[in-house]
Amino acid sequence: MSIILVGFMGSGKTTVAKALTADYIDLDCLIEQEMKMSISDYFTQNGEARFRELESKLLMQYVFDDVVIATGGGIVESKQNRRQLQEVQNVVYLSGDLMTLVERMKEDKNNVRPLANQGFDVLKARYEKKKTLV
Ligand code: S3P
Repeated sequence: MSIILVGFMGSGKTTVAKALTADYIDLDCLIEQEMKMSISDYFTQNGEARFRELESKLLMQYVFDDVVIATGGGIVESKQNRRQLQEVQNVVYLSGDLMTLVERMKEDKNNVRPLANQGFDVLKARYEKKKTLV
């Protein structure tokens, strides 16, 4: 049975995936392995649009497999990705209030999130927009 975890940054997608199975797929980790650089460096060197292309490509590659997938928080931004996700039975949305997510992101020192460092108002707008897409 495949399970696809979606949710805003800091909602616990990777933590839940790990708890479900040791064989989970983390799309951000796959991108880091494939590109041999951190997500943050990838954003700096190639920009968000290229990152989204890669993210969509990997989602398409694995979406119908029998796996647990932790997606990146921005996966729902693309209409094409949303369509793909509608084809799958077990898409699980992890929600959380913004302040809790901000606290978790601060505590997560191993994961530098390029889109979380643009000020609170920008983050809040991103959070509100994402809520309308899931
Ligand atoms: C992003 C979320 C991140 C990562 C990238 C972009 C987003 O994943 O894919 O920094 O657009 O919300 P996490 O949700 O695992 O932090």
